[in-house]
Amino acid sequence: MRIVTCQAPVNIAVIKYWGKRNEDLILPLNDSISASLSIDHMCAKTTIVASPDLKETKFWLNGELQSIDNKRFQNCLIEMKKKANPNLECLKWNLSICSENNFPTAAGLASSAAGFACLVSALAQIYEVKTNISTIARMGSGSACRSVFGGWVRWHKGETSEGSDSIAIQVAPETHWPEMRVLILVVDDQKKTYSSTSGMRTSVETSEFLRYRAEKIVPQRTAEMVDAIKNRNFEKFARLTMQDSNQFHSVCLDTYPPCFYLNDTSRTIIELVHRYNQFKGETVIAYTFDAGPNACLYLLEESVAEVIGMLNYVFPPKPSIISDYFRGIKPPTITLDEKLTSTISNYQQKEGKLKYLIYTKVGDGPRILEVSEHLLTESGVPKS
Ligand code: DP6
Repeated sequence: MRIVTCQAPVNIAVIKYWGKRNEDLILPLNDSISASLSIDHMCAKTTIVASPDLKETKFWLNGELQSIDNKRFQNCLIEMKKKANPNLECLKWNLSICSENNFPTAAGLASSAAGFACLVSALAQIYEVKTNISTIARMGSGSACRSVFGGWVRWHKGETSEGSDSIAIQVAPETHWPEMRVLILVVDDQKKTYSSTSGMRTSVETSEFLRYRAEKIVPQRTAEMVDAIKNRNFEKFARLTMQDSNQFHSVCLDTYPPCFYLNDTSRTIIELVHRYNQFKGETVIAYTFDAGPNACLYLLEESVAEVIGMLNYVFPPKPSIISDYFRGIKPPTITLDEKLTSTISNYQQKEGKLKYLIYTKVGDGPRILEVSEHLLTESGVPKS
């Protein structure tokens, strides 16, 4: 038998993927760029057992047995087996797969990206595949292809119809911009009402703006983003990140019928970030939103203390949840300057608009874990 456990990171795009040119192979209309976030704070974890004694292949996700009759899951499995040495005996064996996320599933927090990247990383260990596995992760969920690497990652849309060149490549490792920090403001941790998959399908069918964005705007913007990251130019990075998030949500509004992912709290965060940047006289925070209301703020370490202070002032947490409110890296505390509080006092909200806050940073790619971390016993049964 063989057993392996992997962890894979969440990634948050700064140039968004939205729209496919091929639904089955998951080939995108445009390139995208993201950062993989620290596995220490948010990740998927997957154990796979391959054994001749297993009667059938089973898959548990967050404690619940899933149907394996799922096209995306099957595509990942089939493609990974194709890449393996055909003489490997374990190719004939059934699998037990157990996967967990340590953050809300499907709440617009890139859980499927981490999940499929982790599944594919663990399968690559079982089947001894050493090539770029991003093309296989891509078949599970488009954005998953960027989570098979750490640091800053670009998904090249590719040109071929069979997708062999639609791959993710690292732009820079996590050590390249060590001061970069990320704050995830969880506005809603429930399952989203309108999935990315169906939202982007409707956008492709109905939004001319999406086509214009993919053809005319993203190519230039992607090149500029790579330049901003390579030169650690925060001002440029932040402007491009916010413009791209806003453009993606404009495409959602141009979709017919429209898909709304932002809510009033998301919009307050957007206004607050612009007001704060104006107060500082330079761009020190960038926001970006995926297919949900939760905000992801990119900022440098030197700005974190004041920004967390400001968030606590504008979005006071409910006292009953304070012990569980700050997750990830322990946040620094400061007393806010009076000039700042008077500038932002208009934005102050009632308690509890944010569910919790994750303070994290850019991190490395998938990891292989030790025996003690296995989620399954050697006979393929979940430990809990
Ligand atoms: C808004 O990768 O979830 O997060 O390929 O259909 O599984 P499928 O979609 P998915 O889309 C993510 C879209 C996004 C932007 C991004 O991550 O680039």
